[in-house]
Amino acid sequence: MPTIILITGANSVVGYAAAKVIASSSFEYYVLMAGRNMTKVDAARSELEASGTLKGKLFSIRLDVMHESTIKQAAANVEKQFGRLDVLINNAGVGNRDPDLDTRLRANFDTNVVGPALVSQAFRPLLLKSTNPRSIYISSGSGSIERAAHRTKQVLPNAESYSVSKAALNMLALNEKIDYGAQGLKVFVFCPGFVVSNIRGSSKEERSGGGMAGDPDVSAMMLRDMIEERRDEDIGKFIHRDGIYPW
Ligand SMILES: NC(=O)c1ccc[n+]([C@@H]2O[C@H](COP(=O)([O-])OP(=O)(O)OC[C@H]3O[C@@H](n4cnc5c(N)ncnc54)[C@H](OP(=O)(O)O)[C@@H]3O)[C@@H](O)[C@H]2O)c1
Repeated sequence: MPTIILITGANSVVGYAAAKVIASSSFEYYVLMAGRNMTKVDAARSELEASGTLKGKLFSIRLDVMHESTIKQAAANVEKQFGRLDVLINNAGVGNRDPDLDTRLRANFDTNVVGPALVSQAFRPLLLKSTNPRSIYISSGSGSIERAAHRTKQVLPNAESYSVSKAALNMLALNEKIDYGAQGLKVFVFCPGFVVSNIRGSSKEERSGGGMAGDPDVSAMMLRDMIEERRDEDIGKFIHRDGIYPW
């Protein structure tokens, strides 16, 4: 029986690397690459399929975390096609640093908090049909309140709203653990680390974080470990590439 894994925002960096690494690992993995722009999602899926390295199967699925109708439709489609979901990776995110506080706060909250909350709500009934359900939230070390308590300056200007949204996402994940952990749902929070990304902007300098950003495939391998029960001692924790973050 295949393991059904859905990744939101799977057409870009962290989500894309996760789809690649997971689907390259086992014939049993069916990775549902979810995204809001089907041209981008289909292009990403085709690129991976053309690589010749895949063992598992990829599927494209439309899901805009800002539009609940697409979330509900995606869940209905997964139910119809597979009858359950084994792993949900809430990965889609933005790092909005608009100069206007109201704009950036709402943008980060809509995508990084409200979106994952609605996605989890819609897919949870399908997860609870799995014999080994896993719910993984892609957060950021900047959302650690304990770490922020020792910080004296922002890494980037106007970055506070992103951090606030990720702290809220962490609380969302913990509440899911509280509410559904006893039913067998294994909840993880994961910071992929400072990796090459479109989230900071599209220029070479921004994508590479001034040449400092790491390889998202390494983060993807850690996500695979969470799926393959190698991180089960860290269920309900805030995992990062080199250990565990304080909340
Ligand atoms: N990269 C890092 O250094 C880093 C560090 C810590 C945490 N993270 C977290 O890792 C996750 C992935 O980041 P990334 O580096 O891969 O960023 P990215 O390259 O910007 O990719 C973000 C993905 O989210 C999707 N997305 C944005 N809004 C969406 C919406 N409304 N509905 C559905 N999908 C939406 C994007 O779709 P489009 O392509 O259509 O825009 C894209 O696929 C985020 O949650 C981020 O906060 C990243």
